[in-house]
Amino acid sequence: MKRNGTHEPTIERIIELSGIETLHPGGMAMTRRTGEVAGLIVGMHVLDVSSGRGTQAIYYAQQYGVDVTGVDISDEMVRTASRSAARAGVADRVRFRQGDSQRLPFESGTFDVVINECAVGIPDDSQAVLDEMLRVVRPGGAVVIHESTWRAPATATEKEELAERYGTTPLDGTAWVEMLGRAGAGDVHVESDPWSRPEMFWNVRVDRSVRGPGAVLTPIEKARTAVRVRPARQGETSEQR
Ligand SMILES: C[S@@+](CC[C@H](N)C(=O)[O-])C[C@H]1O[C@@H](n2cnc3c(N)ncnc32)[C@H](O)[C@@H]1O
Repeated sequence: MKRNGTHEPTIERIIELSGIETLHPGGMAMTRRTGEVAGLIVGMHVLDVSSGRGTQAIYYAQQYGVDVTGVDISDEMVRTASRSAARAGVADRVRFRQGDSQRLPFESGTFDVVINECAVGIPDDSQAVLDEMLRVVRPGGAVVIHESTWRAPATATEKEELAERYGTTPLDGTAWVEMLGRAGAGDVHVESDPWSRPEMFWNVRVDRSVRGPGAVLTPIEKARTAVRVRPARQGETSEQR
């Protein structure tokens, strides 16, 4: 679905501005499960599509000894992720580059595993994202996504409003599976609960235990984020903000 950007700041902008390392339902618990499901083993070459701040790519390299390439549309995310990989001492095994998930800048069959954590539903053409993920994985390799699904009936207007505010487009669970099939996925394995429980949404900090929305940002981070997401005053430059 094409989002219109009518609700600023977008979720991507919030992630960029705040200190949150990861933002997807299920938090790091979902990332841990993604690594297990992907069957990562030492030496594999993994592509993390829409790698954001790089937290997951770094986690996979440290946890499983894999080599990870992250790709993200945002230059700012790529810079932040590259700095984090260097700080974590894994820059030799984890690299990031700019690119659009709907036109991945890689040869076909390049990766053993291709992961996308909660960003298939963000670009306008989610089918193109899945087609591309299936194209760049080697024959017999694994593609793993986690995505939001509708759990209760909602009208088209409600869905549109929620997709705009949430920053991604949830679909019915069967729709994701059908799209994976159209992209060429063979053996599709599906899990839902317990990893996507909404109460786990807030567990997004790797550096602290987060039990609720109020604990995601420290008071100082909240204040900084509030200042940075407010609309610019007329004539105000970004340096003055
Ligand atoms: C919700 S965040 C998820 C980031 C990371 N996977 C995580 O779980 O923390 C969505 C990410 O998708 C990226 N993104 C949005 N549209 C994209 C596109 N067309 N191609 C590649 N990345 C994109 C954003 O820049 C952002 O980093």
